[in-house]
Amino acid sequence: MKKLKTMFSALALCAGMTAFAHAAPETIKFSHVVAENTPKGQMALKFRDLVAERIGDKYVVEVYPNSQLFGDGKEMEALLLGDVHFIAPSLSKFSKYTKKLQVYDLPFLFKDMEAVDRFQQSEAGQQLLESVKSKGLIGLGYLHNGLKQLSANDPLHVPGDADGKKFRIMSSDVLAAQFEAVDAVPLKKPFSEVFTLLQTRAIDGQENTWSNIYSKKFFEVQPYITESNHGVLDYMVTTSTEFWMTMPDEDRAVLKKALAEAVAHGNAIANEKSMKDRQKILESGRSKIITLSDDERQQWVEVMRPVWGEFQDEIGEDIIQAAVASNQ
Ligand code: SIN
Repeated sequence: MKKLKTMFSALALCAGMTAFAHAAPETIKFSHVVAENTPKGQMALKFRDLVAERIGDKYVVEVYPNSQLFGDGKEMEALLLGDVHFIAPSLSKFSKYTKKLQVYDLPFLFKDMEAVDRFQQSEAGQQLLESVKSKGLIGLGYLHNGLKQLSANDPLHVPGDADGKKFRIMSSDVLAAQFEAVDAVPLKKPFSEVFTLLQTRAIDGQENTWSNIYSKKFFEVQPYITESNHGVLDYMVTTSTEFWMTMPDEDRAVLKKALAEAVAHGNAIANEKSMKDRQKILESGRSKIITLSDDERQQWVEVMRPVWGEFQDEIGEDIIQAAVASNQ
């Protein structure tokens, strides 16, 4: 009997050791609010696949799109609590953590996405990735989506057309000031609520990129889209200091490289995706795309541009000047 017991103990020990040798991979959660068929959605999936290929015995990345796990407003807190490990919020959603990133919301600041990219790669742009460090967040890189357009129930040609209309905005005071400048009513609402707000006509319009307008079907409930290109919607891929710095150095290096490659992939497809989604909206016939004349566009610029002055102190004049310089 004693012999049998010893045998069982030895077997149990072996089983335990085997379980230890094949410890289950650690789960890394990547949460975001957009559809999978967007630059951010594709970037997150690429990251998941690269991690599986290179270090899949130790880590498995689970991607949660469409605000499935956390919507905006909650995802940064969840990151700090360790309930999720990577997020990539719009640069417009960081104002609780830093005022400097508000530069990206200034209307009519960047002439095109190449200028946005030049600024992001500049010393000033790279320093901005560090602007959330003191809050326990690490900006690992920028990801493009694209320039924003204005969608509405009624045609918007000149600023006066927006007078009194309710527009959903991201949680940014700059964006609120931008709509107030045209006497519209800005409402800060989570991305996940926008479609219903538009469909029920609780709001009159919103601003977003072609890719978000298409993938979230806003064009099906917004008869007009003004091709204003008045602002940028890009992202900062973010993790928490606690998660990132407690990881073994060699694993962090592998994840960092995989993430950089995933971001490069997302950035490479962003522009083409934008144009393709614009085309699909055009072909759907559900939404009329309004092209502004030079004079009409200039009217929007003149009314919205004074917003820069309101936020100059919070952002820093040097940062704004560096962004302006990227247009050259
Ligand atoms: C996103 O692209 O992550 C969401 C943008 C929005 O809230 O409008």
